[in-house]
Amino acid sequence: MERIKTYVERLDKRLEGGIPKGTISLICGVAGCMKSSLTYSILYKNAVESNLKGLYITLEQEVQGLKKQMETLGLTEESEKLTIVDQKGIDKAVGVDMRFEHNSIKKVKYYVEDLLKREEYDLIAIDPLNALYSLTTIKNPRSEVHLFFDWLRETGITSFLISEMYQGDNRFGKYGVEEFLADAIIHLEFKRERNILERYLGIVKMRYTNHHLQYFPLFYNKDRFIIYTKEELEL
Ligand SMILES: Nc1ncnc2c1ncn2[C@@H]1O[C@H](COP(=O)(O)OP(=O)(O)OP(=O)(O)O)[C@@H](O)[C@H]1O
Ligand SMILES: [Mg+2]
Repeated sequence: MERIKTYVERLDKRLEGGIPKGTISLICGVAGCMKSSLTYSILYKNAVESNLKGLYITLEQEVQGLKKQMETLGLTEESEKLTIVDQKGIDKAVGVDMRFEHNSIKKVKYYVEDLLKREEYDLIAIDPLNALYSLTTIKNPRSEVHLFFDWLRETGITSFLISEMYQGDNRFGKYGVEEFLADAIIHLEFKRERNILERYLGIVKMRYTNHHLQYFPLFYNKDRFIIYTKEELEL
């Protein structure tokens, strides 16, 4: 099975090489746990180091703001292989027919389908998935979400859907179906140790992969994420 590297140091070899190609991953966690940073770094590193084409759809932050944030993480190289688009960019691209469409799922789908007619993409990120629901008058959320996941899987693109959680949540997606529909769940978490917050990364599920079940301490070091495993912590 072909795999897409996460470029998180020490993680890929614990995932049999990376995330299975063509699958859908949820990247979930509470505010500030670095969901956007992790997802962006996966697309960025794959563009710059593996020559894979990525599309990052940022629905709550403008392109400039996102880029600025990623510059502080040292992810500065411009790459033709990475397209970043925000709400405004999508509205501009879809034209009058779709600009006033309130169902964001429909609009994003239309935008991506149109783009795929002209260019091929290997990776896609939607940040956050929750923004697709916000203006939507979804009558039957479970079936709409189901159809959206089906469509995404049919494109064959390896997808990363950012899912916002709230403190104390035990659901990885808003409607409780996303976690079953997704092939993988990458959970970012904070833990409070005395008066210090520590970051953790856990692979809750990853189909087709024999993965570790440890929640790994997660750090950002210069220009990449790094995890610490039990073995290293014991040293
Ligand atoms: N070099 C770094 N090392 C560790 N943490 C950092 C670094 N640079 C920024 N941060 C932290 O990353 C956090 C923001 O990350 P990011 O925006 O990716 O999180 P998020 O989960 O997407 O947040 P939101 O839920 O608000 O969208 C901030 O709390 C910031 O302090
Ligand atoms: Mg974010």
